[in-house]
Amino acid sequence: MKRAIQISFFALLTCLLSVAAVRGSLPEKGPVEGDAVNGGRIYNNWMLALDLSPPAGEHPLWLDQDSNPRSGVVTWRCTECHGWDYKGAEGSYNESSSHYTGFPGLGNSIGSSHDQVMAWLDGTNNPDHNFLFYTTSVALEDLTAFLRTQQIDMDLLIDPTTGKALGDWERGGLIYTESCSGCHGAGGATVNFGSQANPLFVADLAEAEPWRTVHVIRFGTPSGHMPASEELGWSLSRVADVLAYAQTLPRGTPEYGLQPGDPTDPFQVERQGDIQPIIWGAFAMMAVVLASFGWDALKNRSTRRAK
Ligand code: HEC
Ligand code: HEC
Repeated sequence: MKRAIQISFFALLTCLLSVAAVRGSLPEKGPVEGDAVNGGRIYNNWMLALDLSPPAGEHPLWLDQDSNPRSGVVTWRCTECHGWDYKGAEGSYNESSSHYTGFPGLGNSIGSSHDQVMAWLDGTNNPDHNFLFYTTSVALEDLTAFLRTQQIDMDLLIDPTTGKALGDWERGGLIYTESCSGCHGAGGATVNFGSQANPLFVADLAEAEPWRTVHVIRFGTPSGHMPASEELGWSLSRVADVLAYAQTLPRGTPEYGLQPGDPTDPFQVERQGDIQPIIWGAFAMMAVVLASFGWDALKNRSTRRAK
């Protein structure tokens, strides 16, 4: 057992070293323009990260596929078409996933020049893929920097078939206590990303969406409320360790993510950038206020009658 752990640890270490080597030997095509870490947050959700309201309807390229039945805001997110592992249909959003679109991964951007990548984002290569129209040139610089320098092969941190983290959970526990529990609590349940009825905690995301969790640990959340490990100088093996520990924490909604083929499952975490809950919340608040007015009026009437 101990030997197996040792072997898998060395395998992970070797893999990580080779990623580092590949990263270090990227062809020099001039300095990287843009803020790559901010680019990671924009990749997560450009509408939230840039504080822009979502365009109406679906992204034009969304109509080129009919396997992923989602609609609306989520279709505008880079992640929904290209995946949290940047591999598109070749990665975790493959044919067996309800997120499958058949759209390509982004590996070509690694080692490409700034202009080659930018040509994909500003509509030069495909007018339907023009994000300059919706965002800013500074945002696209950041995205370009992210795509060129920050993509990693997540298979080195996460077993692609089981979704289990390949890190050391015991070491991860120490890191979690030091770097995460201040906000998320020792049990991971202080911040709820779901709803009252179906709470989603760190463990729910770590188990059901490990690729997303790695991306979020590395770049923080689009709101900027959570720090980016890439800015703290963490190694990727540290990220794998903390993910492994997060997968051992108690879950809020253990069913979340169990129905990968069911896009209508009630536990979808597509809340970011989704303003519907806010609108319903506002309605609910108005209803409460109106109801209390009504109640007061009724009470006044009955007390008057009683006198
Ligand atoms: C609605 C789905 C969709 C969304 C949203 C989307 N893309 Fe794409 N993307 C595509 C498709 C489809 C292609 C291939 C287009 C083609 O071949 O003309 C593509 C191509 C690319 C490429 C070139 C890939 C290659 O082969 O080298 C890059 C880079 C890219 N997208 C980045 C992004 C980024 C960054 C975002 C978020 C700002 C984004 N995409 C959002 C669907 C999408
Ligand atoms: C300074 C506070 C803070 C720290 C430190 C922090 N987080 Fe977060 N995290 C948040 C907040 C707040 C959110 C909710 C989203 C938002 O408002 O940005 C969040 C969201 C998340 C999410 C859900 C993201 C999603 O896509 O829905 C995960 C998973 C997560 N954190 C894991 C971690 C882990 C693991 C660590 C330690 C490495 C950590 N967080 C450290 C504040 C923090």
